Amino acid sequence: MHDGSPALVESLGVTELANLDVVVVGGGGHVGLPLSLTFAAAGLCVGVYDTNEATLERIGRGEMPFMEAGAEELLKSVLPSGRLELSADAAIVSRAKNVIVVIGTPVDEFLGPSMSVFDRVVDELAPRLAKGALIVLRSTVYPGTTEHVAERLARIAPAIDVAFCPERIAEGHAIEELTTLPQIVGADDDHAAARAEALFGRLGARTLRTSTKEAELAKLFTNTWRYMKFAVANQFFMIAHEAGVNYSNVLRAIREDYPRAADLPSPGFAAGPCLFKDTMQLAAFTSDHFPMGHSAMLVNEGLPAYIVSALERRYGSLRGKRIGLLGMAFKAESDDPRSSLSYKLRKLLSWAGADVRCTDPYVPDSRLVPLDDAIADADIVILGVPHKAYRGLRFPAGRDVVDVWGALGDGIRL
Ligand SMILES: NC(=O)c1ccc[n+]([C@@H]2O[C@H](COP(=O)([O-])OP(=O)(O)OC[C@H]3O[C@@H](n4cnc5c(N)ncnc54)[C@H](O)[C@@H]3O)[C@@H](O)[C@H]2O)c1
Repeated sequence: MHDGSPALVESLGVTELANLDVVVVGGGGHVGLPLSLTFAAAGLCVGVYDTNEATLERIGRGEMPFMEAGAEELLKSVLPSGRLELSADAAIVSRAKNVIVVIGTPVDEFLGPSMSVFDRVVDELAPRLAKGALIVLRSTVYPGTTEHVAERLARIAPAIDVAFCPERIAEGHAIEELTTLPQIVGADDDHAAARAEALFGRLGARTLRTSTKEAELAKLFTNTWRYMKFAVANQFFMIAHEAGVNYSNVLRAIREDYPRAADLPSPGFAAGPCLFKDTMQLAAFTSDHFPMGHSAMLVNEGLPAYIVSALERRYGSLRGKRIGLLGMAFKAESDDPRSSLSYKLRKLLSWAGADVRCTDPYVPDSRLVPLDDAIADADIVILGVPHKAYRGLRFPAGRDVVDVWGALGDGIRL
């Protein structure tokens, strides 16, 4: 099962069996679990450490706690091999030479990074780390975090190597992308870099070496760039809509057989647990002088209110209007509702007095209703997220259908 001979290691006076190749801290999460499964499928013995015991129980039953293409099959195939060990006890990190940290890194109430997240984890893990362990940060972090963690660790647990290897997968495509996307390896010394390259080399993807801060910025720039592109798309949509033209026609005219504009995305909700908060992490790094990032945030976060205002202009008032809202996940073919702008739209519509019925084929939320109930008797149907299940829908004549995505056909608009 184990591809190297088990080695006895000292963990600050405690002698334990180092029989795990890697422990993933936050290993039950959207990033941590696909990564753990992919390492296990590559032949490594993997410890999944997560504080969420209910999630660990589901994983232990061979059940994925969230949608991720190909992951449940992988989970079912690696569980019987014994190469996946699940634990809610931090002591498991003492049994591995490699520890990867992929806990969530939300922004705080000031839209800045919460540095204490890593301080707490370091304080918890440091006394338990095996001597000479490599610790890899994989969460998306505020620039300078890896250096800060390395300094803090050096005070508590000397001789630990530290690297920053950001996760760059798109949720839902992790299993495929983990072995195909190049892996950025941010390290400030060659020893840590070589170890991190060897670890991620096991996944078969090539590695790209940078310093830790370069890697931290590369990850934040990547997400912010994507967020800005969506903001441009949404701003163009609003300008065209205000001008009274069909934006689908405009977009087709821009993109069709014109390579220089082929990367202009379609408009739609730019939401989820990463793009907004990472753009704000970058803004905090600029002492809050980041006009392009803040503008992108205003445009993307403003789209739900724009839709409500446009409908209010059309109807005078939305009071008592029945509205069916289709799609509550933050993006198509996902069950993840984190920071979904459909929920923001639902709230704004309710404030405007509408009777909103929400539906989604994937999101587990007891407040949601079946698709037919959301559509039945609705005065207005709004496409929140273009799940495939909605693409072929046909609505009775006279039904007002709002589709900023342009996913339901050219004749339907805001
Ligand atoms: N979701 C994505 O598509 C994606 C893509 C790239 C990068 N990222 C980044 O990866 C990081 C994790 O995101 P996520 O979406 O996987 O979050 P998540 O909330 O799905 O997963 C985090 C996991 O960590 C566990 N956890 C929290 N604190 C812990 C602790 N102290 N010890 C052990 N386990 C703990 C939680 O129970 C949870 O299962 C974030 O920094 C995010 O920005 C996410």
